[in-house]
Amino acid sequence: MKLVAVGERGFPKDAVALEFHFQRQESSPTAAFSGKAGERLIAARRAGHGTPRTLVGLGSREKYSADVLRKAAAEAARDLAGRGVRKVSLEVSAWPGPHPAEAARIAAESIRLSQYRYTVNRDKSPDHPLESLFVVCPNAREQKSMAADLAEISAVDDGVDIARDVSNLPGNLGPPMKIVQIARKLGPAVRTRVLDRKACERLGMGAFLAVAKGSHAPPAFLVLEYRPRSGARRRPIVLVGKGVTFDSGGISIKPADKMEEMKHDKSGAAAVIGIFAMARQLKPRVPLIGVVPLTENLPGGNASRPGDIVRSLSGVTIEIKNTDAEGRLILADALYYAGRFATRSGKPEAIIDLATLTGACSIALGDVYAAILSNNDALARSLELAGESCGERLWRLPLHEAYERLIKSTVADVQNIPEGRLAGTIAAGMFLKKFLADDSVPWAHLDIAATAWDAKGRDGRPAGSTGIGVRLFHEFLKARADI
Ligand code: BES
Ligand code: ZN
Ligand code: ZN
Repeated sequence: MKLVAVGERGFPKDAVALEFHFQRQESSPTAAFSGKAGERLIAARRAGHGTPRTLVGLGSREKYSADVLRKAAAEAARDLAGRGVRKVSLEVSAWPGPHPAEAARIAAESIRLSQYRYTVNRDKSPDHPLESLFVVCPNAREQKSMAADLAEISAVDDGVDIARDVSNLPGNLGPPMKIVQIARKLGPAVRTRVLDRKACERLGMGAFLAVAKGSHAPPAFLVLEYRPRSGARRRPIVLVGKGVTFDSGGISIKPADKMEEMKHDKSGAAAVIGIFAMARQLKPRVPLIGVVPLTENLPGGNASRPGDIVRSLSGVTIEIKNTDAEGRLILADALYYAGRFATRSGKPEAIIDLATLTGACSIALGDVYAAILSNNDALARSLELAGESCGERLWRLPLHEAYERLIKSTVADVQNIPEGRLAGTIAAGMFLKKFLADDSVPWAHLDIAATAWDAKGRDGRPAGSTGIGVRLFHEFLKARADI
């Protein structure tokens, strides 16, 4: 969907104008419309402009937030698309609150994101998404800066949509090599390298391979690289993404109910690929490295068994007590590789991993906040702030060393699940922390298990993958003035 900035003169006559209203304002536009949140009214054409209008309620002025606008705009856009509308418009100067240009940007982005359809396996989407959104600006200066902002929003949201496509691929159509093919299309601005099963064996990635063993689909350890034209000598930010293309649980097999949702267990990988897709367009000033271990977790005849002991790339030995805790196994080797890889180009400035790691994360935070666990307060804080401003919220959980006993093994250096059911998300974080090549490098682990997809879709968002991580990282770079 196209986002276009136009001037008052360019007001598109064939587009439906979205008009936002707070509840109970003195001059209610019509008696039949009160402006309650969720309320919509298709109203008459406005004199002079000749365009049909949709009035959209925002609820009370006091309770207004960016989230209220995101939801109202997205739901209205989905509703209109469902009615066969192709073009919509927003008039900056018609915004009923403060910061009209900022509100227009938030609404435009939310509308753009609401129009995603998973069409990879269909010739056509069953319903048509909107074709374009026109943002009508009051003067030439505003129009110019709005055009630049809309271009940036489109680049970010292209990344979100790529992340969604990757995450939404079913297990049969999205094996590791398919994900590699998608990443390769990001070249030449993004360089990709792939370590196959043999290369991983040679390096000693015993933890990653212990998961890959159970599937006939060849695993792939994907490395992405983006270097800015200037500033190439800065230390890189390394992004690590869990890429389990389907998680059956392995020999510790999962129950059948909702197992199909485990095609989304590559959402961390999807986010990293989406971030590089965004970077390719927006050219941030900081080098980025992506480390994406891709494998399926299946209970084949060669699969790892509960009780198996493996040696990770770092040398730390792991007792695999549960083959369904496979994400932390593949991340163990990926995190260590990330730390070591980057020592060749200078220590990484930071390592950020994204993973659909623990069901316990949904018990702790539900689907409103993703969990963040970090060894560095400043990094955690800036990610939290980025999340707050784009709506991909993060809540920090502790990594106190007293939790270490949860993952102590009697037969190896660590075990991959905690004893009992205590602090599942933290135990996973403590496990990952063991595999940092250098604990003084700022690291943040984002557990996106409950926020990476939404089977039904709500608040105007499509069903399936949310594409979480791309907008968050964009916001993070922007706050550092790296975009
Ligand atoms: N991919 C799952 C985590 C998950 C579960 C994400 C549900 C989203 C929804 C992960 O590999 C897993 O199975 N974790 C286990 C760990 C347990 C065995 C310690 C879990 O959370 O149950
Ligand atoms: Zn699992
Ligand atoms: Zn998993």
